[in-house]
Amino acid sequence: MTDTTTQAEINDEMRAIEAEARAQVDDGGAPELQPRRNYPPYRSSILRHPTHELVRVDPEEVELVSPAFGHTDVNVLESDLTIQHSGEPLGERITVSGRVLDGEGRPVRHQLVEVWQANAGGRYVHKRDQHPAPLDPNFTGVGRVITGDNGEYSFTTIKPGPYPWRNHLNAWRPTHIHFSLFGTAFTQRLITQMYFPGDPLFALDPIYQSITDPAARARLVGAYDHDLSVPEWSLGYRWDIVLTGPHATWMESEEAHD
Ligand SMILES: [Fe+2]
Repeated sequence: MTDTTTQAEINDEMRAIEAEARAQVDDGGAPELQPRRNYPPYRSSILRHPTHELVRVDPEEVELVSPAFGHTDVNVLESDLTIQHSGEPLGERITVSGRVLDGEGRPVRHQLVEVWQANAGGRYVHKRDQHPAPLDPNFTGVGRVITGDNGEYSFTTIKPGPYPWRNHLNAWRPTHIHFSLFGTAFTQRLITQMYFPGDPLFALDPIYQSITDPAARARLVGAYDHDLSVPEWSLGYRWDIVLTGPHATWMESEEAHD
């Protein structure tokens, strides 16, 4: 069911939280680099965030060995989301490249990076997504790649479209690509989203705004990189992902669908 809150009301809620967070930083508090788990403008976060203390587990019982993916585990063609069907998908072809780095700027090598996204019309191939935008028979929107020796990754895909969701009346997500990465263990799967520069929906989106620190938010936005653009083929966007440390890329606490 669609929440009947208006965008203006959501904006007021987001601006009030932002002002409160800014005041805390002005008073000497540390900036909040992670999203708030309880961020009321993002309506379903109220239901999803933990309400009890975390359950401690014996680290001996969980998997502490770094996952090791070899080049034979992932086919190189899986990083091109435009060649998975017999025809070409519709939309603006893009190259998305960057590096996965640890907090000290060292490359995170040979790690699995997975992406999923909507098509150019803003539609996911998922039965929960029933809004009236066309499916593209030539686009599934899922890809994966293993990072190279310098932590680099690269995908060829289609620029996804923004799409509506039912957080409030007339709620639209900014254009984004979902990313999944592993840290040093399977138990540390990290999920995040890359956005595109200049999106007019940033200020209106409670998921993007749930990170109250403007610099942490900005790290989720890829940069247009003309040197990455391929003549007569694709436009290039560069986005580095930092797994730990003060400049870490924001990571979701769970696998959110939106
Ligand atoms: Fe999404």
